[in-house]
Formats: sequence, C-alpha cells, structure tokens
Amino acid sequence: MVWVKLFHSLSEAKDRLAESRPQLLEVSNVRICLVLRGDQLFAVSNKCTHNGESLSKGKVNFANEIVCPWHGYQFNLKTGREYQQRSSDLETFPIKIETDGVYIGI
Ligand code: FES
Repeated sequence: MVWVKLFHSLSEAKDRLAESRPQLLEVSNVRICLVLRGDQLFAVSNKCTHNGESLSKGKVNFANEIVCPWHGYQFNLKTGREYQQRSSDLETFPIKIETDGVYIGI
C-alpha cells in the first residue's frame, strides 16, 4: 500500500470539502468517492458494484451510507457493505490523519 497525501491538514480538508457531499477523486489512476463527515473522512471505490454508476453523484444518508443515484443501493462508507447485500462490497480505502497531513492508502 502507498500512502498519498490529500491535504495538508484536517482543517484544510474541511475547508475544501462540503460536509456529507461525495467528492470524486482520482489518485494513482483509481477513482475514489471521498466523503467528509464531521472530523472523519471516508474513501470508497467510486464505481457502484451493482451496475457501475458513479457513486460520487449519489447522496449520503443518516446511516453513514452512500446511496447510489441509479437504483438506490446503499453502501456503508466504513465497511463498503451494501445494507441488504444485493451486490458485492465496495472497496474501501484507509485514511489517516497525521500532524503533517491527511493521507489515503492506495
Ligand atoms: S448502479 Fe448503483 S444501484 Fe444500480
């Protein structure tokens, strides 16, 4: 795994990302759906495992799930699991917040 720096600090991430609004990100040729929730960041594969829709076009619900805009499947942002297990889990990517920046593991 390679750690890639996304932001210089958590406060920079909070300035640049809208709360609970999915953001498409491409890191090392991997398309990621990044979500800020309070002081936490979640990163999952941007491609829905049902039929390939871009999850960064979706919404985040009260249960910390990304809801696919096409057929409404709901994936847990932490585990990648679809709540009714109608399709395979999303790949998830670790985020670490250090004193010198915010990193994603690819
Ligand atoms: S493509 Fe995402 S739920 Fe069908």
